[in-house]
Amino acid sequence: MTGTGRDPLLAAARKAAEHAYAPYSRFAVGAALAFEDGAVVTGANAENASYGLSLCAEAVAVAKAMNEGRRGGLMAVAIAGPGEEPVMPCGRCRQMLSEMAQLGGSDPLVWSGSGQAGAEQRLSALLPLAFGPDSLR
Ligand code: THU
Repeated sequence: MTGTGRDPLLAAARKAAEHAYAPYSRFAVGAALAFEDGAVVTGANAENASYGLSLCAEAVAVAKAMNEGRRGGLMAVAIAGPGEEPVMPCGRCRQMLSEMAQLGGSDPLVWSGSGQAGAEQRLSALLPLAFGPDSLR
């Protein structure tokens, strides 16, 4: 799947949310990751009857991308929640997105929300002074 501009990437995130498994929160979220080569990798939240085990959409998307062999090249992230309001990634997801970004030295844009409610942030602004692969060298 390709389409790495803001609107197509948000559309991909909305589409991904259709596969959310969110019977407990009823808060379906989709995430779409855009890569340097034009590829888009999506994910949706996957909840669990043991609530704390639930996976966020962004975490699913990062794990999918890693399992396709991707290491870096992350240029943009779109996140779609149930409404127009932005859904910004939780702390754990910021860290997971940061790992993928740092592997390729990028600082992806993070898009969420639509219309007047649209938000755009750099990942580095959402997770300043991030811990990452280089911290272990
Ligand atoms: N959730 C995500 O998938 N991504 C976010 O950025 C925020 C929260 C999920 C976790 C849980 O399944 C539901 O939304 C309610 O918190």
